[in-house]
Amino acid sequence: MPARKAKVLAVTSGKGGVGKSTLTVSLGIAAAASGSRVLLIELDAGLRGLDIMLGISGVVYDLGDLLEGRCNISSAIIPSPNVSGLYAIVAPVSMTGPILIQDMRLLLDGLRAYFDLIILDTPAGLGRGLRITCEVADLALIIATPDPVCIRDGNQVVREMLSRGFTSHRLIINRVNRKFIRRQVVQDLDEVIDGVGSQLIGVVPEDGEVTLFSSHGRLPDPKGELQRVCRAIIARLGGEYQPLIVR
Ligand SMILES: Nc1ncnc2c1ncn2[C@@H]1O[C@H](COP(=O)(O)OP(=O)(O)OP(=O)(O)O)[C@@H](O)[C@H]1O
Ligand SMILES: [Mg+2]
Repeated sequence: MPARKAKVLAVTSGKGGVGKSTLTVSLGIAAAASGSRVLLIELDAGLRGLDIMLGISGVVYDLGDLLEGRCNISSAIIPSPNVSGLYAIVAPVSMTGPILIQDMRLLLDGLRAYFDLIILDTPAGLGRGLRITCEVADLALIIATPDPVCIRDGNQVVREMLSRGFTSHRLIINRVNRKFIRRQVVQDLDEVIDGVGSQLIGVVPEDGEVTLFSSHGRLPDPKGELQRVCRAIIARLGGEYQPLIVR
């Protein structure tokens, strides 16, 4: 296998339930569709969801088993049953201790050579997930919806990152009312960008299809908006020009 050198992206947010897992999986699918070998790692200890979203059944080993030495690396990496090139390590349901930063660093150092992209689905808030992000990620994607609480919490994340000397972050605004997008009402988006304090890399519309995907494991339509936006974000991360509002 050719030596790869995966970039590590961390999907983060201040407030919970803003679409981190949805976007982790959608970005993973978009990157895999463009030919990358992609690994998703779910860091939310005790709260597992990626298996359902990816349609993986009968998980035997998870991140906790791997970090605590109950399995080897190949048995914890589960291939997506539907998307070629996409793999996942799912969240630990029972760990005897917290996920340690040095263990994550060692794990990622070992995995980088086998993937082009590793995406960490981190727990919301300013806790351990954010500390791990600041220590191991090449880039953090901060997810925020356009509501005031979420904007303020997103800004807390940016400040916490800054206090740890981590400045490599971009903003994805999720669940934007499509009327705004159609009318190109950018003022509201500007408020989110200024409020959070991170450079915008993607705008994801509110979309009923998303719920079907994230709660029933139905893969997003490759021609649908969610995948179009995620493909544009992946291309932009690779340095390509793509318009911010994708239609
Ligand atoms: N663009 C969108 N349009 C409509 N619904 C969405 C969109 N993005 C996310 N959702 C819905 O929001 C809910 C929360 O999404 P998700 O589980 O991805 O959030 P999360 O940030 O991972 O949550 P948590 O902090 O609990 O891990 C889900 O029901 C999902 O379907
Ligand atoms: Mg989640």
